[in-house]
Amino acid sequence: MNTSENTILITGGSADIGLELAKQLAEAGNKVIITGRNAARLQQAAEKIKGLTTIQSDVANEDDVANLAARLTKDFPSLNIVINNAGNAALYDLATVEGAAQKSREEFAVNYFAITDLNEKLLPLLKEHTNAAIVNVSSIVAFAPNSTIPSYSASKAALHSYTLSLRYALRNTSVKVFELMPPLVNTDFSQGIGGHKGIPASQVATEFLTAWKDDVYEIHVGNTADFYKLSLASPADAFNMLNKEEAVTA
Ligand SMILES: NC(=O)c1ccc[n+]([C@@H]2O[C@H](COP(=O)([O-])OP(=O)(O)OC[C@H]3O[C@@H](n4cnc5c(N)ncnc54)[C@H](OP(=O)(O)O)[C@@H]3O)[C@@H](O)[C@H]2O)c1
Repeated sequence: MNTSENTILITGGSADIGLELAKQLAEAGNKVIITGRNAARLQQAAEKIKGLTTIQSDVANEDDVANLAARLTKDFPSLNIVINNAGNAALYDLATVEGAAQKSREEFAVNYFAITDLNEKLLPLLKEHTNAAIVNVSSIVAFAPNSTIPSYSASKAALHSYTLSLRYALRNTSVKVFELMPPLVNTDFSQGIGGHKGIPASQVATEFLTAWKDDVYEIHVGNTADFYKLSLASPADAFNMLNKEEAVTA
């Protein structure tokens, strides 16, 4: 991929991994647009990154997604890269939870359905460009679930499966499909699952840029690479590694 002179949308770009991606992509010479729900956080991001465009939009709200796609198509026809980064996780015990179905619906709305919806709406625009890409941010838990975040793990496994299908479906178009798979990262999101032991968000963005440039379609950040090999060699060992009492992985 050409990693400069792109127009890039990052959903959930006002904090942590999305913000680091926005920073590093802007520094690499790209026009970056971010979304998020909280206006104050978007404003803070705009103060940190020169030339950043911010759009208040909730990926879980179907009207917001439709409005976002319409606005991008009208005002940013150069848009050629979409990074689906916004994500949501609920920590709960399947043995004792109340309302598991509702928690799953909320997570799948953000982590899966929002992505399929936005990609479908932006594909016509992306296909007009020769250097175009969709990047879906999944997780190491796509390879084996962490049972403390059961429906989050399921939603990322679904996203991984969808991403494989999307890449194959678009193989004869100009749109390349990437998947960014971080391990545990030290962000707001991961504090309930030992996030302080995770890698910094800046490392995720740096590894992404290097791999993206080389057209590595499935980007295994940090120890996701070793975990992937373990999951192929022994799915049971991979599962056990994430489900020890002290295991912390998102
Ligand atoms: N942290 C980890 O350990 C880890 C590991 C593997 C994968 N990941 C994945 O990496 C991605 C980013 O994670 P993170 O740790 O950086 O998360 P984070 O610290 O919670 O930041 C999430 C960002 O997304 C925005 N956001 C959340 N819900 C949104 C929604 N419904 N619509 C629009 N924007 C929304 C947030 O802003 P507002 O709240 O203002 O909307 C914020 O800018 C997620 O897909 C996550 O699953 C994270």
